Amino acid sequence: MSGRAVLDANDAALDGLVTPFSSVGKDWMLIAAGTGVARETWNTMTASWGAFGVHWGKRTITCMVRPTRHTYAFIEREPLVTFSFFGPEMRKALEICGSTSGADTDKASVAGLTPVILEPGAVGFDEARLTFVCKKIYAQDLDPALFIDQAIEKNYPQKDYHRVYVCEILRAYQGGRSK
Ligand SMILES: Cc1cc2nc3c(=O)[nH]c(=O)nc-3n(C[C@H](O)[C@H](O)[C@H](O)COP(=O)(O)O)c2cc1C
Repeated sequence: MSGRAVLDANDAALDGLVTPFSSVGKDWMLIAAGTGVARETWNTMTASWGAFGVHWGKRTITCMVRPTRHTYAFIEREPLVTFSFFGPEMRKALEICGSTSGADTDKASVAGLTPVILEPGAVGFDEARLTFVCKKIYAQDLDPALFIDQAIEKNYPQKDYHRVYVCEILRAYQGGRSK
């Protein structure tokens, strides 16, 4: 394991760490929640929908998780959630974490990921180049009655509307095996 720099959540430290559109929408991220590194104590899933921003004066990451995901129960249970970003060499791992479920797959071993506890209640990955440790501060289920653009509905043939989580960035961990 190579050393990680711990960055406090301030604009000078966080600005420039990600490119908010392509880092999320093109490169993807892993959302993880859990308390330990043993398989049943954490879970992760790939996400390409989300946003960096400011809410209630706090620096935040907003994500959207369908209740059908195995990761959903972990996010619901745990106060902290992590968002990890990787170099291109880990693309296959993100594909695996986005196409298999922790309900029946050992994602760490299949995807070649090494879970690490970055701080109590925050599970990240040794291979990540950058991980944000965040605290959930708001959650709300999407209400299809409020879709202004009706075209959004086509994303929900199973009616499994996402739960939106707004998460306050507490710290960022930079540097791991991934560059
Ligand atoms: C590129 C990509 C992006 C995804 N983005 C999201 C997302 O933002 N929200 C979501 O609920 N699922 C998303 N998924 C689907 C989950 O990652 C996928 O269903 C995963 O297998 C869930 O794993 P789990 O059951 O272990 O939680 C995405 C999948 C891929 C491949």
